[in-house]
Amino acid sequence: MHVIVTGGAGYIGTHTCLELLASGHEVTVIDNLSNASQEGLRRVERLTGKSLRFIQADLVDPVATEKVFQECPNATAVIHFAGLKAVGESSEKPLLYYHNNLTGTLNLCQAMQRHGIKNIVFSSSATVYGDPASVPITEDFPLGICTNPYARTKAMIEDILRDLHAADSTWNVILLRYFNPVGAHESGEIGEDPNGIPNNLMPYIAQVAVGRLKQLSVFGNDYPTPDGTGVRDFIHVVDLAKGHLRALEKLEQQPGAIAYNLGTGQGCSVLEIIHAFEKASGKTVKFVIAPRRKGDIACCYADPSRAEKELGWKAERGIEAMCVDTWNWQSKNPKGYGR
Ligand code: NAD
Ligand code: UD1
Repeated sequence: MHVIVTGGAGYIGTHTCLELLASGHEVTVIDNLSNASQEGLRRVERLTGKSLRFIQADLVDPVATEKVFQECPNATAVIHFAGLKAVGESSEKPLLYYHNNLTGTLNLCQAMQRHGIKNIVFSSSATVYGDPASVPITEDFPLGICTNPYARTKAMIEDILRDLHAADSTWNVILLRYFNPVGAHESGEIGEDPNGIPNNLMPYIAQVAVGRLKQLSVFGNDYPTPDGTGVRDFIHVVDLAKGHLRALEKLEQQPGAIAYNLGTGQGCSVLEIIHAFEKASGKTVKFVIAPRRKGDIACCYADPSRAEKELGWKAERGIEAMCVDTWNWQSKNPKGYGR
């Protein structure tokens, strides 16, 4: 299958391109490199011994987006990763987030429609559930109150894609709601390369361990959880990448518009992650307890059984592998791709 991958140069995109090439798919990546470098894709080609096509283009530009589709006449599906994703920045620059994520998606879908490509896998997020009434979370939980513009772009894009299917049932839409992607490819050649100081837990811990940052602030130890710190469903990025391949196979069965949780089903606390990382790296991760972070919830983990039943997908890697692989990537590439 020839798959167009938007945002394919980014963290989850590079890992997914690797799995796509390894499974024999043809891949064209569109990325504007606003949060990535081409180096990750070069390494994907080296690791697989196969090549992909890279087109530097911005989805916000309708002419450039149309051109990509003209150059890919045999493409049959799109995996749509491209988007801005920093929660704090989205509250400071809402117009940038709405313009990039929504206009980009509209331009993409219009080009797809013009070229008769009506199969899409979209990167959604557990953030669309807001603060869930209980855990584990199933896909039919009500969509919650979003607390920031980033989260609202995910909820709005889900609505846009569901509306597209409702208007034209030949559109097939798979909404993958990721829980907390972490880890890296076992080679240590590709991984997460955040811009500036990381917002998320795992890259922050990794940079403390490698000596780039002094100490971690644990945001709150008074949550109603077993050790008082936040609990999340961390999922290895390679498991997540493989979930996209299963979703592409599902699209061939014309499933309509459907959402799947991609998580392990296991909650893990901030303190548990710190200890697992110390064990994996042999380093001490210095931390202090700090006040809660605004907008955080106590506990969030998936019921991933729909994905297992309908996609034949299940996360295979546990916390230990997530920490070992993150450390392997971070210690081999202390400055990421050096962009
Ligand atoms: P990332 O920033 O590493 O990758 C996104 C890529 O999209 C980048 O390479 C960026 O350059 C590109 N991009 C952004 N706007 C673009 C545009 N207008 N045109 C072309 N390219 C554009 O992020 P990631 O962690 O790989 O996330 C991929 C997707 O998954 C995003 O949509 C993100 O919101 C979603 N998601 C990520 C997480 C997570 O924790 N990483 C969790 C849930 C959902
Ligand atoms: C974050 C995003 C969310 C996105 C999700 C997917 C925020 C506010 N939310 O969620 O929109 O869908 O990633 O990956 O960014 N923590 C610390 N110290 C830190 C960083 C985090 O204690 O320096 C704690 C948090 O309080 C939380 C846990 O670690 O309890 C996980 O945090 P993080 O990695 O940022 O992910 P989420 O908050 O789940």
